Amino acid sequence: MCAHEQRFPADAGEVRQWLQGAGHIAVLTGAGVSAESGVPTFRGAQTGYWAQFRPEDMATEEGFRAHPRRVWDWYQHRRDLLAGVQPNAAHVALAQFQQQQPGRLTLITQNVDGLHQRAGSTGVLCLHGDIFAERWLDTPRNCCHIDHAVADHPPYCDRCGNMVRPGVVWFGEALPYATLEAAQKAVRACDLMLVVGTAGAVYPAAGLARLAREAGARVAIINPAASALDDVAHALLCGTAASVLPALLAPP
Ligand code: APR
Repeated sequence: MCAHEQRFPADAGEVRQWLQGAGHIAVLTGAGVSAESGVPTFRGAQTGYWAQFRPEDMATEEGFRAHPRRVWDWYQHRRDLLAGVQPNAAHVALAQFQQQQPGRLTLITQNVDGLHQRAGSTGVLCLHGDIFAERWLDTPRNCCHIDHAVADHPPYCDRCGNMVRPGVVWFGEALPYATLEAAQKAVRACDLMLVVGTAGAVYPAAGLARLAREAGARVAIINPAASALDDVAHALLCGTAASVLPALLAPP
């Protein structure tokens, strides 16, 4: 038993019963759900050249403006890493559940890696954007056309110098309003919320678990370690996403 489980002893069988009796299920995932695909978690150790920088300093507009090449290359490095990985059993289990029980599960993710979508999940609410998307750093003018941007690190408009940035939500930036609103609506309406592979350190995403609980849903956390949301949970399943989710979501 993980140390943090001593307060909320629960087993997957109990949570599976909750799941089978739930009308609607909301799932919030974080970087941990992609860990078993070989994708480093957000606060996990950076490797090689990137180990000298803090992700929190690079995933900001200030960081990009101060070091555009460094930040652009960091995102390109992460995109290259993602090109070589596959969705894992956790991503697949969630996608299969959605396919087998249409409309019963809403998937909300903090991840920008696109692995849920590659596994076949649909209607994924991507709170923090998409690492493969691009947009202008400053409000685009008539001269700014992404497909005409000068290929550089980062690409830029050769008329006004506007830079292209990754289409992700950086620290201090607002989340896409419609996506967050849809996520809040889903967790308020669900009977069970699964919180999978997130440290629960970043709001407003982390606030969704409390919102679900306050609206009357049961909350279960799946994580091999303690998280900042443990006190919101009715159950803590101490394990990895790829080991717990397939058994939890398997057809009865
Ligand atoms: N299965 C499940 N959980 C795991 C696994 C695994 N195999 N491996 C690690 N974890 C857990 C860790 O214990 C940790 O709680 O995943 C979590 C990863 O935490 P973070 O790296 O902080 O990632 P996350 O919580 O998703 O960060 C949220 O913060 O910085 C922003 O935008 C960034 O989307 C990110 C957000």
